[in-house]
Amino acid sequence: MDKTDLHWVFGYGSLIWRQDFPFLEARRAHIDGWQRRFWQGSHDHRGIETDPGRVVTLVPAQGEVCFGRAFLIEHDVFEHLDYREKNGYERKALDIHFDAGSSPGITYVAAVGNVAFLGDAPTHEIVAQIRRCHGPSGSNIDYVIELARALRALDIDDPHVFELETLLLAPIDRA
Ligand code: SIN
Repeated sequence: MDKTDLHWVFGYGSLIWRQDFPFLEARRAHIDGWQRRFWQGSHDHRGIETDPGRVVTLVPAQGEVCFGRAFLIEHDVFEHLDYREKNGYERKALDIHFDAGSSPGITYVAAVGNVAFLGDAPTHEIVAQIRRCHGPSGSNIDYVIELARALRALDIDDPHVFELETLLLAPIDRA
């Protein structure tokens, strides 16, 4: 296989914990200048057209570092990933950093203002939306819990994700 047929893809959301694609290698990795936020609507996985769930995207943030997991894939795998990430995500070229060294690579970013973009909202509204939503891939709550679990397993701290996890696991206050 020609080396140019291989690509590093940086995963920061469901790609970290749900691999329905073949890869040759996976490594903990990070990218500079981005932060993970539950600001992207999901009409096709964790919600439906009339009641979209919330999933993560990357938001530009100077000085921030986003940790995740990078996968070495063959070029053909992009066909599957492009379809899976079709709800507003676009491929973006960037540098991926490993514990030792770095490499040019690709990540999927749902840019601010894309058709499914929801943006920020008060935390209690984000929590209520995630509690409520379900889609063809399962409940929106499970997406948060699986992501938090996978980040923990990789020894990655992300206060935004862990705060949502904590609130979602807390009993609902009906007072
Ligand atoms: C990713 O995981 O890297 C993209 C966002 C997602 O599919 O949750």
